[in-house]
Amino acid sequence: MHYDIEKILYSEQAIQQKVEELGKKISRDYKDKNPILISILKGGVVFLADIMRAVSIPIEIEFMGVASYGNSTKSTGVVQITKDCNIDISNRHVLIIEDIVDTGLSLNYILRYLQGKNPLSLNICVLLDKVDTHEPDIEMAYKAFDVPDEFIVGYGLDYDEKYRNLPYIGILKKEIYQ
Ligand code: IMP
Ligand code: MG
Repeated sequence: MHYDIEKILYSEQAIQQKVEELGKKISRDYKDKNPILISILKGGVVFLADIMRAVSIPIEIEFMGVASYGNSTKSTGVVQITKDCNIDISNRHVLIIEDIVDTGLSLNYILRYLQGKNPLSLNICVLLDKVDTHEPDIEMAYKAFDVPDEFIVGYGLDYDEKYRNLPYIGILKKEIYQ
């Protein structure tokens, strides 16, 4: 696996430091609000697992499945819910835990969908932001890192279901997918 990585962008240590920072911020902002952290499968799972343990206030967790990519590296533009949210989120504070914003299609779809369920508040906590590939209109209340327009893997992010278990975040060598 390590041999397939062109460059490490964020080390295990850098990620952990940022997660601690975000956890403290979320704990302050959501004090006495008992928020629901909704992680988007599967890429957001590793981030959720770390973020939730960096948060010191009571929370609930939930998962949603959304498919927008096949085994290719380009968004298909078609977003489909593969696992719905099973908790009643009306009048609750909701924080979406997402792996990466690329075109923003998935997140915009999820936002519209969850907004329709009348949460008290709805915010986004994203691990990675591909700043150059989407309109700057997506409001991310919490963001760990910016990344360049390359194919990124590790710490939950996959290429063709592989590399999710890499403990760091890196750029995949082009020859792997070209
Ligand atoms: P978007 O709808 O184009 O923003 O894509 C969002 C989803 O595509 C993310 O939640 C990821 O699952 C996947 N994705 C986008 N870019 C990458 C990448 O560089 N590496 C791995 N997965 C990615
Ligand atoms: Mg994915």
